[in-house]
Amino acid sequence: GGTLAGAAAASGRFAGTAVAADRLDDPAYARIAATQFSGVTPENAMKWESVEPERSRYTWDDADRIADFADANGQDLYGHVLVWHSQLPAWLNEGDFAPAELRTLMTDHIAATAGRYRGRVDRWDVVNEAFDEDGTFRDTIFHRALGEDYIAEAFRAAHRADPGAELFINDYNTDGLGPKSDGMYRLVKKLTARGVPIHGVGFQSHLVLGQQPEKMRANLQRFADLGLDVVITELDIRMDLPVTRKKLLRQAAEYQAVTDACTAVRRCEGVTVWGFSDADSWIPGWFEGEGAACPYDEAYRPKPAYHAMRLAF
Ligand code: XIL
Repeated sequence: GGTLAGAAAASGRFAGTAVAADRLDDPAYARIAATQFSGVTPENAMKWESVEPERSRYTWDDADRIADFADANGQDLYGHVLVWHSQLPAWLNEGDFAPAELRTLMTDHIAATAGRYRGRVDRWDVVNEAFDEDGTFRDTIFHRALGEDYIAEAFRAAHRADPGAELFINDYNTDGLGPKSDGMYRLVKKLTARGVPIHGVGFQSHLVLGQQPEKMRANLQRFADLGLDVVITELDIRMDLPVTRKKLLRQAAEYQAVTDACTAVRRCEGVTVWGFSDADSWIPGWFEGEGAACPYDEAYRPKPAYHAMRLAF
């Protein structure tokens, strides 16, 4: 049969998946990642705690491995993530840094990480999860020390480090119209008006079965109308376990709806799933009693969601 990558390419888009470096040793995993998908995002390997667990001691092995995998398979590489309040190394999170020092740590981290993969990363999540649910800025070590300016600073540093990469801001619960996506909209409108090098907005789309975002297509379109690209960056649709046939069909319809929202917007560049198989998904570890969120089941067999997504591209 066909592939997600092929179907997406026919509409000028990419189909991506998050990958875990240590899973690439499994031939079944690697084969699906390499053949079904035209883009990969490191699920954890490029996060700050992964690349600099101790101050000034860098560990690039897993990130390099995924970058090499993308190169070997001719795939887009989506860098994730430069500035985020979560999965920071303890030395940074628990350190007591003056604002000027934190700014330097942030821009040095961006220079080191985006610099290392300069010319290889197609798109970077420069800033992740900057908002609270009401659309105001989240209280993070970066916002507390530097105010909202940390965001523009981060984009400028990323652009210096890799002038060819498309730079994104990414968040969850911003997929549909609502207060949180309004906050994102106000910010990116301001940043583009001021000439800050931001090129796109990522919509994580960690969704719950039966709770589809409000007017997703219209939401993506309003960002595109600002001259920004949009990407569905971390799609999964979780359900209360156990799995039933009925839930799987409902899930397929919702995967189709998300993919349709992307293909309806010219500037939507692609859809990335946050892991392709229920065997590897982060969901059961994070949401008690929930799972089965991916397009492949635990035995690496395509689910109805896989077929729905392929047909929708
Ligand atoms: C998740 C990973 O999938 C897990 O393996 C890890 O333990 C926690 O982070 N939003 C993001 C991703 O931007 O980086 C998160 O990934 C999921 C939520």
